Amino acid sequence: MQTRMTEMLGIKHPIIQGGMQWGGLAELASAVSNAGGLGILTALTQPTPDDLLKEIERCRGMTDKPFAVNLTILPTIKPVPYEEYAQAIVDSGIKIVETAGRNPEPYLPLFKDAGIIVIHKCTSIRHSLKAQKIGCDVVSVDGFECAGHPGEDDVTNMILLPLAARRLKIPYVASGGLGDGMGLAAALAMGAEGINMGTRFMVTKEAPIHDKVKQAMVDASELDTSLIYRTLRNTARVFKNSVAERVLEIESRDGPTSFEDIQPLVQGVKGRELFEGGDLDKGIWSAGMVLGLIDDIPTCEELITSIVEEAEEIISQRLNQLVSA
Ligand SMILES: Cc1cc2nc3c(=O)[nH]c(=O)nc-3n(C[C@H](O)[C@H](O)[C@H](O)COP(=O)(O)O)c2cc1C
Repeated sequence: MQTRMTEMLGIKHPIIQGGMQWGGLAELASAVSNAGGLGILTALTQPTPDDLLKEIERCRGMTDKPFAVNLTILPTIKPVPYEEYAQAIVDSGIKIVETAGRNPEPYLPLFKDAGIIVIHKCTSIRHSLKAQKIGCDVVSVDGFECAGHPGEDDVTNMILLPLAARRLKIPYVASGGLGDGMGLAAALAMGAEGINMGTRFMVTKEAPIHDKVKQAMVDASELDTSLIYRTLRNTARVFKNSVAERVLEIESRDGPTSFEDIQPLVQGVKGRELFEGGDLDKGIWSAGMVLGLIDDIPTCEELITSIVEEAEEIISQRLNQLVSA
């Protein structure tokens, strides 16, 4: 299944593993790349730009296939030296970067001069058009279903993808709510050159998180996510646990929400400890509505192969018969 994106990125299957805080380590990224998709390391999961360089080297020791680095530019509790992370990516010789969170324009000259392909994640068509205008190579269209930050427009991929087909000239991938071959076939039908998955890849054997967290996601349904930080206009879709419910309770109080009231509950380090130790109510973690479609814990190879085979079967059998009958 070759698309403009598989050709551009030099990968076998049109499937990307999106950047994931605390999840985007070499174990997962290399497993996805070895299975023919595009694995992505998450820059800010590494405490310093130097550590990122070491993680890139570690990943190179685990795969000889292309992999990328995600640079997420979002408001953070602690200031982040973004320029230094961007420079480390360039110095490492990485050739594909996924940017997210904010307009990546300030970093584009650096990346483009180094011959880096930039995939920018957007939650609206206007941001996608802007990404195209400033010179990004691929847009990852993240619908309202997605884990992490869906933006404030609440538009799902059913609308965003056909809009992208009408308005974008550069290739785009569908992101958010995808976890099986039906999703891949539907995304391709809506003009996408492939899919980007986050939550589904967190529930694989190689995902570097505690088995209890994976099992909780297998047991969960499509109703088990919460939209927190709405009142701060920085909405995040996370797994519905007691901490997410407490955050929502604080946000529902009269008057403006102060982040100071929420901060102790949502510190990044608590999310990391939750992933490591398996205490499901230690903090919060990003998870999408695709939880409803996840009922096993395969290897990345098994997952990617089954998604591609199911999509091929749908396209060559069911859809083909519909039009040739
Ligand atoms: C645990 C987790 C952490 C994430 N962290 C980030 C991140 O740091 N930066 C980012 O750009 N996206 C992040 N995402 C979003 C994913 O890259 C991807 O866009 C999203 O998961 C797609 O939606 P899906 O989960 O329905 O597949 C995260 C997602 C998950 C599940």
